Amino acid sequence: MASLGQIIFYILSLVQSLNRLPVANLGKDYMLSCFLPPDSEQSTLQEVSVTWRKESLEGVVYRYEDGAESTSEQDSEYSGRVEIFRDVVPKGNASLLLRKVRRSDAGKYTCSLSHSGGSGKVNIILRTAAFTAPTFTLSNGVLTAEASRWFPRPNVTWLDADDNVLQGSTDLQQSSAGIFRVVSTLQSVNVSDIYTCSIKTELVVSHSDATVTTDSDVTMETYFTFNAASPLIAPYLRIMCVFYVYLL
Ligand SMILES: *[C@@H]1O[C@H](CO)[C@@H](O)[C@H](O)[C@H]1NC(C)=O
Ligand SMILES: *[C@@H]1O[C@H](CO)[C@@H](O)[C@H](O)[C@H]1NC(C)=O
Ligand SMILES: *[C@@H]1O[C@H](CO)[C@@H](O)[C@H](O)[C@H]1NC(C)=O
Repeated sequence: MASLGQIIFYILSLVQSLNRLPVANLGKDYMLSCFLPPDSEQSTLQEVSVTWRKESLEGVVYRYEDGAESTSEQDSEYSGRVEIFRDVVPKGNASLLLRKVRRSDAGKYTCSLSHSGGSGKVNIILRTAAFTAPTFTLSNGVLTAEASRWFPRPNVTWLDADDNVLQGSTDLQQSSAGIFRVVSTLQSVNVSDIYTCSIKTELVVSHSDATVTTDSDVTMETYFTFNAASPLIAPYLRIMCVFYVYLL
């Protein structure tokens, strides 16, 4: 639990993140965002220090100080997989690129930045999942949605334009790496109708609208939504609220 001192420190901290509760796609690269307000004073690389840590990890994820990367304390899990962008560091941007995200990368990260334009920390809770947009094909009145990479095991739902649930048939094939390939079919679709296919895990939902344009053609549009609720962050937010009330 955070102490009052820590809470005040976080409130005064100028360091920000575009997303403090991101979901990274397994096997892909992900940028953990950490930066000072854009109007901050410039610094030189020599004067900036950046440290990325991860909760319950002995070593550091990444450290940059005295104008150079410092790998002596780096945990081997992150060796060669992380980098910051030296061209933007003088402006106070300490965002970290994490390559080929693994399941074990999930957890709470802290970005600490010391810069002449301001200093502080920001916490980011990274969750991991695999998700890809499905592609749709139509043949003999059967609409098929195929998505190559999902994790953990997703649920697939089909809806018509009035949000009635339709009976589809879903096949999930798990690769040796544990990733699911999703193939779901809907029988007897009708030309000019729009069907919605949702692929859902606890963290990620893909929503696709497939419009049957002719008896052999279908157009589609997909967007993703991510679960923003975190059991880890809730107690912390509650403390912030109580503290805010005291301030008033
Ligand atoms: C920080 O730098 C990265 C890498 O150049 C860039 O993608 C990102 O948009 C920058 N963030 C901000 C807030 O400027
Ligand atoms: C297509 O239209 C027929 C006739 O109205 C209906 O019975 C059938 O359920 C429709 N197909 C789907 C997938 O909604
Ligand atoms: C998937 O469906 C099962 C059975 O209906 C349900 O128990 C589970 O909570 C669902 N999972 C998600 C992520 O919606």
